[in-house]
Amino acid sequence: LPATFACLVFGYLLGSIPFGLILTRMAGLGDVRKIGSGNIGATNVLRTGNKKLAAATLLLDALKGTAAAAIASLWGIEAGLAAGLAAFLGHLYPVWLSFKGGKGVATYIGVLLGLAPVMVLVFGAIWLAMAKITRYSSLSALTATVVTPAALYATGYEKVALLFAIMTAITWIKHRTNIQRLLNGTESRIGEKG
Ligand code: G3P
Repeated sequence: LPATFACLVFGYLLGSIPFGLILTRMAGLGDVRKIGSGNIGATNVLRTGNKKLAAATLLLDALKGTAAAAIASLWGIEAGLAAGLAAFLGHLYPVWLSFKGGKGVATYIGVLLGLAPVMVLVFGAIWLAMAKITRYSSLSALTATVVTPAALYATGYEKVALLFAIMTAITWIKHRTNIQRLLNGTESRIGEKG
């Protein structure tokens, strides 16, 4: 039990580092929460117009999830699952930002990379196909997060599939304003300032 608790704390602390906010501040672009959707994730960092910073945000928000899951996995699969979930929740609910964090997509991909790396290809293929067709980052992620747990389950990653089903549900809840905008036809497309 103390080991599981340590994994949860470790995962949460890593996950709660808000890279989007840190990078945009360091680049002198001000507070990313004051532009576009107000989110701290890569999609909103892209609305500053700085593609490299958006890519760096995506990468770092993902890799913190990968690191948490992969390192904790050294103590067993359950520890990896616990740390991955904790990192995801840390990104969404960081104590440093009064629990107002991101929507979880990058960290979701990162935890997936740590626990079932091949599945990142499935996620990526769906995301890219949807993004090409619709130009909506949110809709692309919402679609890829539905397919991921099913694909995990179908390929025998049963425990990981359960974790990702939970993370998908939370991701969808976090995207409720995006879903509303998608239904209204007012969601901003990739490359638009929003
Ligand atoms: O799934 C992408 C999501 O993070 C959307 O971000 O800034 O458009 O709300 P945003």
